[in-house]
Order: sequence, then C-alpha cells, then structure tokens
Amino acid sequence: MLTTFIKKDRPGEDPIFALNQEASVRMKRGESILNATIGVLLDDDGKLAILPTAARIVSEVKEEEWAAYAPIAGNPDFLEAVKDDLLATHPAMRASAAAVATPGGTGAVRHVISTFLEPGQALLTTSFYWGPYAILADEHQRRVETFEMFAPNSDMSQIHLAALDRKLGDSMAAQGRAVIVINDPCHNPTGYSMSERDWRTAAEVIGRHAERGLVAVLLDAAYAAYAPQGVSTALSALEPLLGRALLLIAWSAAAAVGCRRSLACSTTRRCRLRSRANVRPSCVCSESASLSSTSSPERRACVTPVTTAVFS
Ligand SMILES: Cc1ncc(COP(=O)(O)O)c(C=O)c1O
Repeated sequence: MLTTFIKKDRPGEDPIFALNQEASVRMKRGESILNATIGVLLDDDGKLAILPTAARIVSEVKEEEWAAYAPIAGNPDFLEAVKDDLLATHPAMRASAAAVATPGGTGAVRHVISTFLEPGQALLTTSFYWGPYAILADEHQRRVETFEMFAPNSDMSQIHLAALDRKLGDSMAAQGRAVIVINDPCHNPTGYSMSERDWRTAAEVIGRHAERGLVAVLLDAAYAAYAPQGVSTALSALEPLLGRALLLIAWSAAAAVGCRRSLACSTTRRCRLRSRANVRPSCVCSESASLSSTSSPERRACVTPVTTAVFS
C-alpha cells in the first residue's frame, strides 16, 4: 500500500532556488537585479563555475560504465574511495565503516531521518541549520528540534554545549533515543567550524547520553573539503564513541569534487551492511534491533529500492 501525505504549507520549491529563478526571469526581462541567492558558484561572467578536473573526469567515464545499471549499493570503487577520503587517517573507523551511495548528501540525510527516527520523532540539530533538514523531516512525518548554537550574549566563539546537553536529555526522555545532526566544518549557514574543544566536549556529552539509550550522530560533512582540517577534528573526538553510539557521516560530492553524487557512511563495530539502490529515490528498510523498531509497517512493507545501512 502506498500512502501519500500532502502538506499544503510545504513549499514545492527550495526557497533559495525559487528566489534564484525569480531573479533570473526578472533579469531577462531587463530589470536591474542583484541576484544575491547563494547556492551555486558563478564565474566572473555569471556562468556556472565548473571545475575543469571534475568536468574531465565525468567525460572520461566509459559509456558502458555510465549506461549500465550501477550496483544497487553503489559502485564498490566509489564506496571505497569515499571511505578513504573520509577515514584514511582513522584506521579503526575505516575498518568498521560501511558505505552506501545516495542521491546527494541530501539523500544521506534523508535516509538517516527515515531510518533512525520513527514517525513523530525529532532529530536534534543546531538552532541555525540548513533549511532542507526540516523539509526532509516533514516529508517523512518527523520533526526538527534545535539547541541554541551559541550562548546568548556570547562572542559566538564556541558551541553552547550546555544547551546541547539539555536538549539531548529532552530527546532521550521523550523518545528513548536521539539523532543528532551536526554540520561541520564550515557550517551552513553560519560558516562556523567547531574547535577541538567544541568537539571534545560535544563527544563527552553525547557519550554520557549514549549510556542511557540509543544515540546516532550524523556528521553532515558537506563542506569538509573547504576547511584545512576536513573531518579530522570531528573524527578524533568521535572515535572514542565507536561501539557506544552510531556514527554516521554524510559526504557530498557536490561540494567535494563538483559532482552531484554522495553517500552515507556509517561506522560502528556492530555494523552490518544491507543496502540496495544507487542514485534512485527510495524508501528505507531497516531491521536494526537498535535504533529502528522492526514493528514499523513502513519498514516491514518496504519493497522499493533501498539505500541504507542496517545495524545489528
Ligand atoms: C549543510 C548541507 N548539507 C548537505 C548538503 C547536500 O549536498 P548535496 O548537494 O550533495 O545533496 C548541502 C548542500 O547545500 C548543505 O548545505
């Protein structure tokens, strides 16, 4: 059975894309418009900036490769390359990682929301956050809860970890589990990158709550390639949580190499991968005994192509 939920108040178009579209139309009409919508990089002539290396690599893909069906879980070479890109400096995490191709980093976030939260439950993220988290959550009848990213009247030089602690406690009390989404480094929209201290303290807070229940941390690393430290600060702090919390990373090729193809990568000592689907929209089927309840009809009835990792 297919159930469709229609939300009349949900915009059909991403607001930034909608504004960009309007700006383009009005510019074509001859109006004097300064298009300040951010979303794509343009060159000095206002044309889409394309990395020559990315363009060359795409054009070098052999016809029989791009025309054929991709393996359902994603191309193994691609999956290994992304694990290397993220985890080469963290061998213990690399050894326990499972990777799954998804439609963009957005797809990775989407799968985490629908796999590890039940309908009605909320993910927890910073008070400033990338708007599509809310759209993705809403599409799956999940919600977004936030913790104040910076303490009021502070100089915004550190994350408000007391707020994280408090809201994480609320999530655990209300849901018996928590899914925390942290976009770092080069956080969208603030540009903030968490310091070693931020990460170390955040990991301590998360570890404490993980002793009481099931906690998943999604590191949305969309802009890792834009910061000298990449994901290393985050991973060094999170590594001690291996086996205690579910560690997930959303990697975006759009930002890393200029190609729109991404992956959800998870690291856990008890991780067993059962994934299908490469770049097709899909529903999520999880039989995890930990974060996902097997009683969910959505999960049991899931027959469409799937992209997720299953943890047992
Ligand atoms: C914070 C954040 N996460 C994830 C993504 C998703 O990236 P992708 O284009 O690979 O779906 C973006 C893209 O704008 C983003 O800003």
